[in-house]
Amino acid sequence: MEVIVVKNYEEMSRKAASIIEEKVNADPECVLGLATGGTPLGTYEQLIEGHRSRGIDYSGVTTFNLDEYVGLPRDHSQSYHTFMQEQLFSHIPFLNTYIPNGEAEDLDKECREYEALLDKEGPANIQLLGIGSNGHIGFNEPGASFEAGTHVEELDQVTREANARFFPSLEAVPTEAVTMGIASILKSEEILLLASGANKQEAIRRLLKGEMEEMFPASALYNHKHVTLIVDEEAYGKDVDTSAE
Ligand code: F6R
Repeated sequence: MEVIVVKNYEEMSRKAASIIEEKVNADPECVLGLATGGTPLGTYEQLIEGHRSRGIDYSGVTTFNLDEYVGLPRDHSQSYHTFMQEQLFSHIPFLNTYIPNGEAEDLDKECREYEALLDKEGPANIQLLGIGSNGHIGFNEPGASFEAGTHVEELDQVTREANARFFPSLEAVPTEAVTMGIASILKSEEILLLASGANKQEAIRRLLKGEMEEMFPASALYNHKHVTLIVDEEAYGKDVDTSAE
């Protein structure tokens, strides 16, 4: 795992966006794996800026999102469909954008079909990831199998509490999500894991210990040969001098 420590959220976002733009310029028909949540917002802003001001072209690019809540209507303000539409897809035209359907009547079928689509059109050339304070990636919560493909996952209490900031109350946060599994994530050619802020410090410390365990899902990334962690000073938590970069 390559570790890049940057000063703050903005630098993390700029660095992530520049890696993605470089890939899109080199391979205009590439596949990007995307995440939601607070972490990638700045990266998406940078991508939109690059598209507008430097004409970076995504018209041949396909995207796959990691996850979607079960049971939230697609047009709900907190669905990941709405999030992606607002934060990225309404600003940049892509060739195809895929997000799991959390409203599917037969969720197992939806999971099988999403994984099959990922196999057909993917894998992602670059997969963007955030990390939960409990070490989750996608919605693979502590204890999730490292071998799993796309599946329905019950959300950890820690995750529901963290995401309650986007909902009127904790009770309103869905209890399940459809998520790409750890095995689906590891199919990607390259993985970009982003972490910013003091509330991610403990997760990053545990990740960098380098011990693989199912109770800490992000540690599965040690099974992959091309992972870059871009972490800001607050999340890294140690005194590092990034002023020369
Ligand atoms: C989002 C996702 C999650 C988040 C994680 C961090 O699609 O899969 O794993 O990346 O919960 O969330 P934030 O970025 O809000 O701290």
